[in-house]
Amino acid sequence: MQHSVIIDEEKIQSRIRELAQIISTDYKSKQPLLVGILKGAFMFMADLSRQIHEIHSVDFMAVSSYGSSTTSSGVVRILKDLDTPITNRHVIIVEDIIDSGLTLKYITNLLKARLPASLQVCALLDKKEKHPEEVLAKYIGFEIPDKFVIGFGLDYDQKYRNLPYISCLESGDVTHD
Ligand code: IMP
Ligand code: MG
Repeated sequence: MQHSVIIDEEKIQSRIRELAQIISTDYKSKQPLLVGILKGAFMFMADLSRQIHEIHSVDFMAVSSYGSSTTSSGVVRILKDLDTPITNRHVIIVEDIIDSGLTLKYITNLLKARLPASLQVCALLDKKEKHPEEVLAKYIGFEIPDKFVIGFGLDYDQKYRNLPYISCLESGDVTHD
């Protein structure tokens, strides 16, 4: 499969250190709960958590919005809910990528209803042009163009999540349902 690296490992790691520093400052003494959205966020979550040198907890939700295609269905299914009650907690949702924003909107509304003390989003990648009028995440690693990307947790048909960099699929390889 043809793909080309758009963000290399070093760049990702240095940006994660920056984000972690900002979050550490913003959440000093607040003991935030990082909520990773599986599966895509697993790698970002691990590296981000490792770089946040303030006390915090982690939990995960698993959602499915894609099946094996590359276009959003708009339907979000909760496959695994949080183990932790979040009422009065400072919650940070950790996402791999914001594309249409549908997944994030759904999860944000769901968690808001549980009355956390605060709720913010940290996304590694943001396809800004897909939802130009809204700011969905307070913390963003990189803004990227509207192209299908793989690596660093992101998959194509459940493959390539292991790549330590972000790569762009050549358009001929992407199939839509
Ligand atoms: P949204 O609901 O359209 O914002 O899509 C969010 C989810 O779709 C992400 O959490 C990813 O799992 C998946 N996704 C969106 N764009 C890409 C991409 O370029 N590569 C791989 N997965 C993607
Ligand atoms: Mg996926």
